[in-house]
Amino acid sequence: MESSPHIPVLLNEVLKSFEDIKEGVFVDCTLGFAGHSYEILKNHPGLKLIGIDRDEEALNFSRKKLAPFKERITLLKGSFSQRVKEIDFESVTALLADFGVSSLQLDSKERGFSFESETLDMRMDKSAHFSAADVVNSYTPQQLEKIFREFGEVKEAKKVANAICKAREQEKITNSKKLAQIIADTIKKKGKTHPATQVFQAIRIEVNRELDEIVSLLDTLEEKKPKNGIIALITFHSLEDRLVKQRFKKWAKKCICPSGAMRCACGNNNNLGEELTKKPLTANSEELKTNPRSRSAKLRVFKFKG
Ligand SMILES: C[S@@+](CC[C@H](N)C(=O)[O-])C[C@H]1O[C@@H](n2cnc3c(N)ncnc32)[C@H](O)[C@@H]1O
Repeated sequence: MESSPHIPVLLNEVLKSFEDIKEGVFVDCTLGFAGHSYEILKNHPGLKLIGIDRDEEALNFSRKKLAPFKERITLLKGSFSQRVKEIDFESVTALLADFGVSSLQLDSKERGFSFESETLDMRMDKSAHFSAADVVNSYTPQQLEKIFREFGEVKEAKKVANAICKAREQEKITNSKKLAQIIADTIKKKGKTHPATQVFQAIRIEVNRELDEIVSLLDTLEEKKPKNGIIALITFHSLEDRLVKQRFKKWAKKCICPSGAMRCACGNNNNLGEELTKKPLTANSEELKTNPRSRSAKLRVFKFKG
């Protein structure tokens, strides 16, 4: 088997979350290089997999990697917000999403995610028609400032937006290297992180509609309520984690009476299930040593009622 260009994060914690599941369909919303899916299929001979990814390259790699389980897998190309809507949730017993980009996407210079890239792309799906170059060269200063603030929590959002607009008046910005330089010339470096980190995150989220994708997935799960289904979601920054945390809290709430109500009149039984992780699980020191990407990973797990 080809070695994987991506190490799965929190693998043991994910396997533990699903350990009691014996049969049914396991949905991997972010198949990537099948790091999680391979181990889950190996450990659960009664499970079938539906694997989704919008990156063709990742799907092709995983198709080969999962060949030993050929009869048990269905792979779907597309965004999980759309693809999960097509799934019959009757038999879904487990669902995983490991949000964000893969190491290969981040590290491949031609994909335009890294500060060294000669392109300005950042599309997870190479067939999509909207890229980082469109955001950087066509958004108004106000639009840029808004996404930098909202998706990157960039304190000097206005300053960076103005610097980009000034630079593009001279010449279209066509590579990530140049963009990173403009940002580095505008804001001060704090600590070890590159000053462009948060701005790049914001552009990536905008290009791939990453937060809308998560909200849509949560909406679908709320609507489908897979019976006894275990949902494991891995996030990598506070914007993602907040969405998952708040939704799991809502689903776990038994009483839905208005906050000022004198006494409970709703039956105190309105929860859709229970949170299996009161606090998110994070990487242990061993994993932190071997996989730097695990540093910011948080796993939250929810189990729907039967
Ligand atoms: C962090 S990687 C997943 C790695 C995988 N768990 C493994 O162990 O190999 C995220 C993957 O999800 C895909 N992805 C991210 N957001 C997506 C979305 N909204 N729809 C479909 N695929 C998505 C990316 O293309 C990437 O391949």
